Order: sequence, then C-alpha cells, then structure tokens
Amino acid sequence: MTGKDGMITHVEDIGWEARLAARARRMQSSVIRELLKLTSQPDIISFAGGLPAPELFPVREVQEACQYILQNHGPAALQYSPTEGFQPLKQWLAETMSKYGIWVEHENIMMVNGSQQALDLIGKLFVDPNACIVCSRPTYLGAIQAWDSYEAQYCTVPMDEDGMITEGLPAMLDQSKQRPRFLYVLPNFHNPAGTTLSLERRKELVEVARRYDLVIVEDDPYGELRFEGQDLTPIFRLAPERTIYLSTFSKTLAPGFRLAWVVAPKPIISRLVQAKQGADLNTGAFIQMVANDICQRGILRQHVRRLRGVYRSRRDAMLDALHEHMPSGVSWTVPQGGLFLWVRTSDRVDTREFLKKSIAAKVAYVPGFAFYPGEQGGEHSMRMNFSYSDEETINEGIYRLGVAMKQELAGG
Ligand SMILES: Cc1ncc(COP(=O)(O)O)c(C=O)c1O
Repeated sequence: MTGKDGMITHVEDIGWEARLAARARRMQSSVIRELLKLTSQPDIISFAGGLPAPELFPVREVQEACQYILQNHGPAALQYSPTEGFQPLKQWLAETMSKYGIWVEHENIMMVNGSQQALDLIGKLFVDPNACIVCSRPTYLGAIQAWDSYEAQYCTVPMDEDGMITEGLPAMLDQSKQRPRFLYVLPNFHNPAGTTLSLERRKELVEVARRYDLVIVEDDPYGELRFEGQDLTPIFRLAPERTIYLSTFSKTLAPGFRLAWVVAPKPIISRLVQAKQGADLNTGAFIQMVANDICQRGILRQHVRRLRGVYRSRRDAMLDALHEHMPSGVSWTVPQGGLFLWVRTSDRVDTREFLKKSIAAKVAYVPGFAFYPGEQGGEHSMRMNFSYSDEETINEGIYRLGVAMKQELAGG
C-alpha cells in the first residue's frame, strides 16, 4: 500500500522466515550487539564493547592521507582493484611482520574487510555442516557467529592463566569421531579472557597439530598492543606450513577502516581469494591506499606507541579499582596487553541475571556465557573492556559494580 506521497506504508508479510536456508536458522544476532543496544543508554559506563578509545583516533592524519591519495592517485584509488589487496601495503606488512619472525612474501598475504571477513571466508572454505572446530572455552564470540552459519560444531578446550590448556588436546582428539577442520587460537591478550598463550603451550599446540595433521587458525588482533613483557613467537613462525594467521588495523589504527589481513601458504591464499571474489570482489582500494600512506610515513608506529601508554594506564586503573571495590572471592586476569580482562565472581552471582542490576546501577559488562559456544559455561564470569573509558570513569564504574555485587551477595 502506498500513501499520498508515494511512500510505502504497509506491505504484506509473505512469511520470510520459512523461505530461508536451513543454515540461516543457526544465525543469531550477536548477544554483544543486542547488549550494546541496552548499554548505549545515556549515563551508562560501558565496559561491554570492544571499542578502541575514539578520542585517540588519528583523525587529522587520516584526513591528510585521504587528501594526499585523492590528489596524487585519485583514479586508481576510486577504481576496482585486485582481490589480493594493494601490493605496497602487503609489502609493508611483510616487512613489519618479519620483526616477529613471520618471514613471508606479499603473495602470502591477502587484504580483507576486517578479520571478521577472514573468519567468515575460512568458514566458507573449511566448514561442512557438522564439521568440528577446536577452540578455547571461552572464545571470541564473532568467530562462533561466523562459523555457526556454516553449521559448525565445536570441541572446546578449557583455559587457565597461560591460555588454552593444550595438555588435554591429544586425549580430546583421540576421542573425536572426526578430524577437526582446524584449531582456532587467540595467542595474545585473548578476547575475552585477556590471557596470553605461553611459549611452551604454543610449541605443544604445534606439536599436536603436526601429530594429528591439523590446520591452525591464529587470530591475533591485539599482539601489537603489548604494554609489558616480551613478544612471544607467533604460531605461524613455528608452523608456517599449516597456520593461517590473521591480524587487523582495527585495534591499532581504527575499526572504521574495516581493514585486516590474512597470512597463509600460497595455495590457501588462492582459495581465499576465490572465496572473497564471491563475497565482495575486493577490499576498497581507497582505504588500502590511505592506510598504506599512514603506515609508510611511520604514523601508525608512533600512534601504536601512544595507544600502548594510554591503554596500559587504563588497565592499571581497572586493576586498582577492582582491588579496591570488589568483594572478596572475586578474581580477575591481569592482561599484559590488549583491551580486555576477565572477572570471575563468586559462584553465588549469575552474571547474566546480575546484568540487570548492573545496568540499573548504570554500568555494563558482557556476561561470560556469551563466549561459550553451544554449551553451558561462564555463568560466574564477565568480560570487561578497559580501552574505551578514561581512568576516572573506570574507577567510578568499578565502584558502582562493586556496590551492586556486594548487595547481590547480601541477598539484596
Ligand atoms: C579475536 C578477534 N578476532 C577478530 C575480530 C574482528 O576484528 P575486525 O574489526 O578486524 O573485523 C575481533 C574484534 O574485536 C576480535 O577480538
């Protein structure tokens, strides 16, 4: 039906849901995105999102780079471009990653629209319905969301302060009826747990992957954001023949670029290129050229140095505030970098239920259950982001959370 001005005012519901493919029934809108709607109310102090600090975005530098690219390379920047990505940027990435021991050629790299796209393309290539993926428990929610749509099953491995507990892997793999399609690993400053996989465990993981002939997907968005301690050898360096490595500009430059990259053996890069062609032809030349300009001028390196300093003091503010305001029995991880820490509450606090009280106290977090693929877990945990709010706000938010939790424990 149309109104006087030609606007459509009513359309008949033809039953869209019944027409969708079976796999679409597995797709759910992310718990985090739904929660973020709740937490975007005014006055809420949100530790829920995984957002970088917006006031630190290098807006002026991006503006200058945009102008430079349009003035000097306008037509190429606005044209379709190779699916593999902009070669000078890939070359820069190859040189930069060599300092972490990832020695590759630009042909081993493909640019994508965020690591999230890489996770989806990996699902498209590797995951048949009911295929099994090995991941930590908890794990990155966005990966589950990507792979659920390919009807994946998950074999999960518990974690401790040193990341995924690899010791249990062989027994799990021996019992598994099918060979898992890959092991999904978040080596540095895990989302949501904040932990880093120790070198011993990286080696053990690689040893297991070789023994059982498995592929490893190494998702590393946070590695550059290390505040202290030594960089640890990437898994890709330990097993370049079987690792697909992902990283992104989202946490170092800005997520609005939607720009990330995949490093892998050339045969799998060709397959990823085919999968990406079907998805979006190519990642925009313009943003890749702008990012390249920012990288080549050394602006990114400088910017990351600044981020490390600011995020470190925000992490410290959160740790101090937790010490000061949380009731006894509550514990948390101490991340050496990244954006998140993981809080374990008393067994008497169900963090999903408690969120309502927390929101009433105008503070938000993500309840732990959201990070457990298709199973129980995380009921007494919460993910806390420390990059988004300044120190004073962090202290106020943790104070409010502590008061609400003490009331909860007192039966209030
Ligand atoms: C572990 C992990 N992988 C992938 C992503 C997606 O990042 P991108 O913005 O590059 O799509 C995120 C974002 O938070 C993440 O935490």
